[in-house]
Amino acid sequence: MELPNLFFLLILITQARGASYNYDSNGDDWTTGVCSTGTKQSPINIVLSSASVDTSLGEFVLTNYDDDSKYGVIKNNGHTIQVDMADDTVTLNGGGLDGGPFILAQFHFHWGTSDSTGSEHTVDGNRSPLEIHFVHYKQSLGDLSTAAGTADGLAVLGFFFEVYPSDNAYLDPFLDAISSVAKKDQNATLSSPPVIDAIFQNVNTSLFVRYSGGLTTPGCNEVVQWTVFTEKIRISSVQLAKIRLSYQDTSGATAIGKNYRSTQSINSRTVKISYDPSISAAPILTLNMLFLLLSAIVGFLYCQI
Ligand SMILES: *[C@@H]1O[C@H](CO)[C@@H](O)[C@H](O)[C@H]1NC(C)=O
Repeated sequence: MELPNLFFLLILITQARGASYNYDSNGDDWTTGVCSTGTKQSPINIVLSSASVDTSLGEFVLTNYDDDSKYGVIKNNGHTIQVDMADDTVTLNGGGLDGGPFILAQFHFHWGTSDSTGSEHTVDGNRSPLEIHFVHYKQSLGDLSTAAGTADGLAVLGFFFEVYPSDNAYLDPFLDAISSVAKKDQNATLSSPPVIDAIFQNVNTSLFVRYSGGLTTPGCNEVVQWTVFTEKIRISSVQLAKIRLSYQDTSGATAIGKNYRSTQSINSRTVKISYDPSISAAPILTLNMLFLLLSAIVGFLYCQI
């Protein structure tokens, strides 16, 4: 074979492999779509103190999120564990989203190789061990693939998890199902899942960040109205270990390991925040200061003895 032909063949192979992306470089080597050329990419590092406070975003309206009969299959697609919805009746509106209502299509997880890494978004540089994404498409656009090709067509809700000493029982039906969908392309139905909003029942959904971004997987389409909540869902270390028993191949040889993309440049985007983070941080500061004051007094008295 002549050298130019070999070169052409290599390009073809590389392009074909684009469909089967991996997280070996946390997405830094993705070249499909606008992954490497876009200016509104996701995820991002959220700097709370530089976010623009907008208290007019309003409350979310979640419809049928309190229904446990809406789950379709749970599946391993080789990149994540995903739970599909059975129909198009679980919806999201309000929260300052443009063009709602939005229909929940699926939710899925992003994690890492240990409890200290895994989330896609970071807050003030800190990465959580797990992040869940609820993916919704604009109802007026008809279906997920059309919406994924339209500006502002998708609304994704992202929640962080934090390690907690005891299990979060609401997560067990999903984590237990992983043993039957551990290998790529396996799927199963859930037994006794909770109502959908039980997953984030301890999170105040009035406290969130909003920005315009994209899909965090190839082709990285810049079509997402992102919502990232600042309060976290609790999960135990034992539960986190269960999600890591998912494999990227059909034989179960190689664990998914990590499936979070590197944070991307904010460029000229504005990140909005639904509340004033400096006000809610104030009581914690006061407590810290009180503790310091008490420590100083105790230390002073101790020295007098
Ligand atoms: C959630 O946050 C909002 C905004 O700070 C606050 O008004 C509301 O009381 C909070 N809800 C709960 C249940 O803590």
